Amino acid sequence: MADDNNKRARLGFDGKTVELPILSPTLGPDVIDIRRLYADGGVFTYDPGYTSTASCESKITFIDGNKGILLHRGYPIEQLAEKSHYLEVCYLLLYGELPTGRQLEDFEARVTNHTMLHEQMMYFFRGFRRDAHPMAVMTGVVGAMSAFYHDSTDISDPWQREVATVRMIAKMPTIAAMAYKFTIGQPFVYPRNDLDYASNFLRMCFAVPAEDYEVNPILSRAMDRIFTLHADHEQNASTSTVRLASSSGANPFACVAAGIACLWGPAHGGANQACLEMLKEIGSPERIPEFIARAKDRNDPFRLMGFGHRVYKNFDPRARVLKQSADEVLHLLGIDNNPTLQVAKELEAAALNDPYFKEKKLFPNVDFYSGIILEAMGFPTSMFTPIFAVSRTVGWISQWKEMIADPAMKIGRPRQLYTGHAQRDYVDVEDRKD
Ligand code: ACO
Repeated sequence: MADDNNKRARLGFDGKTVELPILSPTLGPDVIDIRRLYADGGVFTYDPGYTSTASCESKITFIDGNKGILLHRGYPIEQLAEKSHYLEVCYLLLYGELPTGRQLEDFEARVTNHTMLHEQMMYFFRGFRRDAHPMAVMTGVVGAMSAFYHDSTDISDPWQREVATVRMIAKMPTIAAMAYKFTIGQPFVYPRNDLDYASNFLRMCFAVPAEDYEVNPILSRAMDRIFTLHADHEQNASTSTVRLASSSGANPFACVAAGIACLWGPAHGGANQACLEMLKEIGSPERIPEFIARAKDRNDPFRLMGFGHRVYKNFDPRARVLKQSADEVLHLLGIDNNPTLQVAKELEAAALNDPYFKEKKLFPNVDFYSGIILEAMGFPTSMFTPIFAVSRTVGWISQWKEMIADPAMKIGRPRQLYTGHAQRDYVDVEDRKD
């Protein structure tokens, strides 16, 4: 538990005062501990969307949305994106420290040795309709892992938790690639353990039995960077979903499947697909004012996808790194006159100079540029969110492991502000009025 610094908040209502401890974090605002509020004061707090509520204590990731800071275990995301790589960041998130050379080698070997799926799982894929969205397939297949890997579902056993951790990080790219292959009607490509994590994923997506896929190191590096930038993001909607699902003691595969389902939504991980579709719909820079006007119109539900963030109110540091990556990748592929990128750049400039977006502190988020890079690599938009799910798996699992080990862990059970009917008596059907 964060240090109790003897600071107290006093809440007065109905002639009584409730004293609440204030907890001091390492970074970020103080936190009023309201755990005894109902017991001592008889009231609940009301915070739909959890805009002012810390749902847990965590040592993994810190975000300062006003300053555009994102730290994993204290290390800035810009440094990790520049100097580290995905599996090293996975180790850092999971175990709290950067690995030594030997620890990294051992971790990479463990992940690499778990990349294959149980062969019977192939039949499970085949049960889906051919036109299923890969996220629908991933939600089902990851949930089904609990039916295939019984030896790593006992969450009270630290060894089983470790095995489940490595299995999920190792198998998620295989599952995402197979979901893709299934939906395009191509045979599954099995993992190859001599390739690094990102290269292996690209090959499983783009190789066919008739012709192997030569992995371009530039694309592999860009893929790894996308994985790294999406690895964890504090208590976002899908991570909170994983924590809430796990708080009942459910097995980790089922909980991560719940996280994938939540990630799919267009306000969360689904935004990268929605953003690229929007950029294509805009089509040319002349149409940008029309879309900006729609985004500002209160009577139009349209929003600029890839803009805005619940926490970042200055800039999204991940978007900055990806913007540079998008330029590099498109330049190296010789497609830097790509019309979607042109629309994206001009839209960004137009929105950043618009008083509405300035006033509401709406900046491009990570999804704004990731879609452009993924499309340049050859991925269809339907694969954007599955790739996000592959990356975020380590974040979900790190947060899950932390929660299970936390002595303060309780089943998540929010209360409510009830505004329905007061108690009333049942009326027989013949006595009800039309
Ligand atoms: N375009 C136009 N207006 C917007 C946008 C946008 N993208 N985002 C927010 N606004 C406006 C809202 O209409 C609202 O205006 P109002 O105060 O006049 O009612 C105000 O800004 C605040 O918006 P909220 O929805 O209350 O902000 P919240 O923090 O709840 O939402 C969210 C954050 C969901 C990300 C929102 O900005 C959004 O829908 N963006 C588009 C989808 C997107 O890109 N999501 C990806 C998020 S990043 C990620 O998951 C990796």
